[in-house]
Amino acid sequence: MKPECGPRAGGVKRAMVLGGRTGLLGRVLAEALVKAGWEALAVGRQDFEPGDEAALSAALEASGATVLFNTVGYTAVDKAEDEPEAADRLNRALPGMLARRCKALGVGLVHYSTDFVFDGHKDAPYTPEDRVNPLSVYGRTKLAGERAILEAGLDDVLIIRTSWLFGPYKTNFVDKILNLALERDVLRVVADQVGSPSYTVDLAKNSVALVEMDGRGVFHLASGGRTSWCGLAAEAVTVAGLTCKVEPIQTADYPTKAARPAFSVLDLEKFRLCTGITPRPWTKALRDYIYGDLKFADRLPH
Ligand SMILES: NC(=O)c1ccc[n+]([C@@H]2O[C@H](COP(=O)([O-])OP(=O)(O)OC[C@H]3O[C@@H](n4cnc5c(N)ncnc54)[C@H](OP(=O)(O)O)[C@@H]3O)[C@@H](O)[C@H]2O)c1
Repeated sequence: MKPECGPRAGGVKRAMVLGGRTGLLGRVLAEALVKAGWEALAVGRQDFEPGDEAALSAALEASGATVLFNTVGYTAVDKAEDEPEAADRLNRALPGMLARRCKALGVGLVHYSTDFVFDGHKDAPYTPEDRVNPLSVYGRTKLAGERAILEAGLDDVLIIRTSWLFGPYKTNFVDKILNLALERDVLRVVADQVGSPSYTVDLAKNSVALVEMDGRGVFHLASGGRTSWCGLAAEAVTVAGLTCKVEPIQTADYPTKAARPAFSVLDLEKFRLCTGITPRPWTKALRDYIYGDLKFADRLPH
């Protein structure tokens, strides 16, 4: 179904980005907003605890923001199994509170969610309307956050489900793999989980485009294409010019506390229909990350 999209009304491009000082996505999102002509105030827990409703409301009002972007989340997927209350506070209670404050103050809300709301039993890309069935505390608390937002009855709301982030400023899967590959001859990486890697720089730019086209409701947004964790690792090692071998293993050979979906490729059609943008393939973005952001060529032994 074609989403109802069109240039965002209002004109004042002023944003507050929660998690914008330190987050993997948040920092890059604040930069993308500025590049697109927005005023962007990046805030983190140095400024106030995100769950402190009074402090949040005061900061939001003082900023004059027209849109609040929430990138804060409890993202330690395995640790969340041992800390469900902490995950619930950040992934469910916080977005619910933000939605209620945004409604009261007449501010739009953009919130990020995850492919881990799905169980992975599908074999074609997941659309935003597909049945959810999270397998982990992380996935369940993120889904509860989506529902808390939607229950608040705010009209100007956008929930962006994304997946498998890599990008500058903060360590991530690709960065960790490259550091290991510099030290080891062989890496064994899970090959039976398939998903959509997402370059934060592209995700941020495309998120801003979606907001500017007034996308509302739940959207999926990632880089184009799909692969396994092993495929992503192998491509990163090849692009970086390293000789380390990357060998496939099964999920059963690498047990983790939290279960993960075997297949969580996101269908980006709704985003394409709204913005007219086709996100570029993750393989192209990976090259920009490795050579542009990481300046990996400078780190290779000469
Ligand atoms: N990373 C992924 O692969 C991925 C995949 C799918 C969806 N997502 C979603 O995308 C969004 C952004 O992810 P991300 O990887 O950019 O997140 P992140 O870097 O792990 O964290 C984002 C922000 O949350 C803040 N934060 C974490 N715990 C906090 C706490 N207890 N109190 C206050 N602030 C806290 C962090 O602040 P500090 O730096 O001060 O800790 C950071 O600024 C999240 O909603 C996540 O669920 C991420």
